[in-house]
Formats: sequence, structure tokens, C-alpha cells
Amino acid sequence: MTPPTLLQAGDLPDWALDELRALFRVVALPADPADIAPFLAEHGPAIRGMALRKTRVDTALLQALPALEIISSYSAGLDNVDVDAVKARGIRLENTSQVLAADVADTAIGLTLALTRDLVNADRFVREGQWPRQPQYPLGRSLGRLRVGIVGLGSIGLAIARRLAAFDARVAWYGPRPKPVDLPWHADILSLARASDLLILTCPLSDATHHLVDAAVLDALGPRGLLVNIARGPVVDEQALITALAEGRIAGAALDVFEHEPEVPAALRQDRRLVLTPHIGSATEETRRGMAEHVVDTLAAHFGLTGPRAA
Ligand code: DGY
Repeated sequence: MTPPTLLQAGDLPDWALDELRALFRVVALPADPADIAPFLAEHGPAIRGMALRKTRVDTALLQALPALEIISSYSAGLDNVDVDAVKARGIRLENTSQVLAADVADTAIGLTLALTRDLVNADRFVREGQWPRQPQYPLGRSLGRLRVGIVGLGSIGLAIARRLAAFDARVAWYGPRPKPVDLPWHADILSLARASDLLILTCPLSDATHHLVDAAVLDALGPRGLLVNIARGPVVDEQALITALAEGRIAGAALDVFEHEPEVPAALRQDRRLVLTPHIGSATEETRRGMAEHVVDTLAAHFGLTGPRAA
């Protein structure tokens, strides 16, 4: 039997590609935009599945793939995908949000503690050969005494809420609609920001959440307010954040994602009230392996193929 044709759109680990090649006829989307049209003219009609990472999936690409049945993305975020167009075509769309939720939640907690306890500056201080003389050395904030607002309560937001409960933090959340969870819900983000000392962003990026955190939300959080972003950079109006920091209208932030990453503005890089990490929310050996396995396994199962982990 001829194996189904699979489009590789973006980088995947070599071992995962080897596993896919053992099951499918894999064709890779060319890196050079000039080569894409002839490639799609030749291979597009036969492509039935897509292993995706970061590549933009828009209506133009979908039109060139009339037989596409499934897209499996090596990511939780699907902001690179025109989800409405995919759904309208009845194409199955898989992501890895369940696989990575625990590790991204751990990153959020790590960033939160680094921010509330000023761990990065404390580390730098000791490396410079200094030692704190109390009471001049700046004191941190007690996570267990803070009111934490979670923006977006999907699998990652829920995993963060569970972890925060162990710190005795008071947790509330905002999302577009209430859910049957035992946590106070705010119907709008301004109300959540007013009621929070610390906001943790976990929502997907979409037209509705682009610049959701703007000057008004930062002002509602207030001059002692803290912000943690492990969602997507453009959820925050980065220029508004830079201005709020410069004017002392917010106390600090921990950012794993940036509006135009990998570009990080100098104003953020130079500000010691910030903790900055390079989009490492899910970056553990175990989770990255699990994400790639999920891509291979969902594609294999969809086509009724016996994948490498089938019992
Ligand atoms: C995700 O899975 O969406 C991570 O942010 C990596 O892009």
C-alpha cells in the first residue's frame, strides 16, 4: 500500500522525522519562499497530513492542500494557524497543550518566585562579591500573601492555579466565559487587574487577546503590581509596558515571551526590575520529547498506521 503523503512544515527533532518517514511519504516545505509555489504545485494535491512547527498556515496554503485531513502541531499555541479556515474545511487540528501544561506551569511559578523574591539580582549581587546589609537590601514580596490573577484558565492556567494553591496564594481568574471551577471569575480583565497584586498571562494569542494587557490594565494593576507573561508576547502592548515601567506605574515583570521575539527592546533588557527568559516555557527534555511523540502518534493514529509507540 502506498503510504500517505505528509507535509513537514517546520523543524522537528531528527528522531521524530525518522519515525514519520518510516510511516509516511514525507515532503518538506521549502525554506526559500521562491520554491514554495512549484513545490505545492507538484506535491500539494497528494498531501493528507501536516506535521507543523511555527510555519504560517493561512488560506493560501490550505487552498494548495485540497486533500489535507489533519494538522498536528508541535506547540500549544496555534496563533500561526488560521484556525477558522481550518475548522471550516473540517480539517482535524491537534496541539500539545496537554503534554506541556505541567512544565509551562512550572516555568510560570519559577518566574513568579524569581520576580517576587528578586532572585536574579540577588544572584548577581553575590557574584559581584557583595553581601546584603539589612535593612537596606530590598525585601521581596510573600507569594502566599499576594492576590494572583490568572488570565486564561486552559490546561496551563489550571496547572498554575493548582501550584499556587500550595503556596497559599489567593487566586482569581479571567477568561471569556466562566467555567465550573472553584476559583473566583472576573468577567473582564480590568476588574481582575484591579483585584490582583500579580497577573499571570496564559491565554492564547488571537485577535481578541492581542494587546489585551494595555496601559489601562497596567494602571489597574497599579504601581506595586507585577506581571508574568508565559503566553505570547503580543498579548501585552510592549510599548505600554515600557512606558508604565519608566513612569513607575508598575513594579516589575517576568517575561518569557516578547512582542517581536527574538527582538527584545533595550529598555526591557536594561531594566533590572525585570526577569527575562527566551521563550523556554516548555523547554525540558521530557516535554519536548513528549511533544514530538504526540505529533508522530496523532498522525499515525489518524491514518490507522501502527506507530512506534503502539502497544
Ligand atoms: C507552545 O507550545 O506554544 C510554546 O510556546 C512553544 O511555541
